Amino acid sequence: MARAVFLPCVAFLLCIACLEAIQKTPNVQVYSRYPAVKGKENTVHCYVENFHPPKINITLLKDGVPMTDVKQSDLSFKPDWTFERLVHAQVTPDGYTEYACKVEHITLPTPKIVKWEQDY
Ligand SMILES: *[C@@H]1O[C@H](CO)[C@@H](O)[C@H](O)[C@H]1NC(C)=O
Repeated sequence: MARAVFLPCVAFLLCIACLEAIQKTPNVQVYSRYPAVKGKENTVHCYVENFHPPKINITLLKDGVPMTDVKQSDLSFKPDWTFERLVHAQVTPDGYTEYACKVEHITLPTPKIVKWEQDY
């Protein structure tokens, strides 16, 4: 009985070692809650998924400057050993300010920057 519970733990621990070797580059998507409308408050999301190891920096940029009032979800673990995280911030598009998401990860030689495509 105890054995049946114990075995999966051993399998998990053994796999910690193999996990260390896994590296997956993050997939980054930037989108807003509502279609962009000039002067109308919106939420910009930066959804980063499918990466490993879990160490990552996700920054929302406003005209290239890191935004401070940013909310971030917990890092969640997916069944395929990769991680995902959502970062979002309130914005009010003015028609010319550019928003983007910057992601730093060990698999990326330079930070990956994905712009929020605002279609007016
Ligand atoms: C995240 O940012 C910190 C501070 O700038 C830096 O030291 C660290 O290397 C970065 N992490 C990654 C995974 O790029």
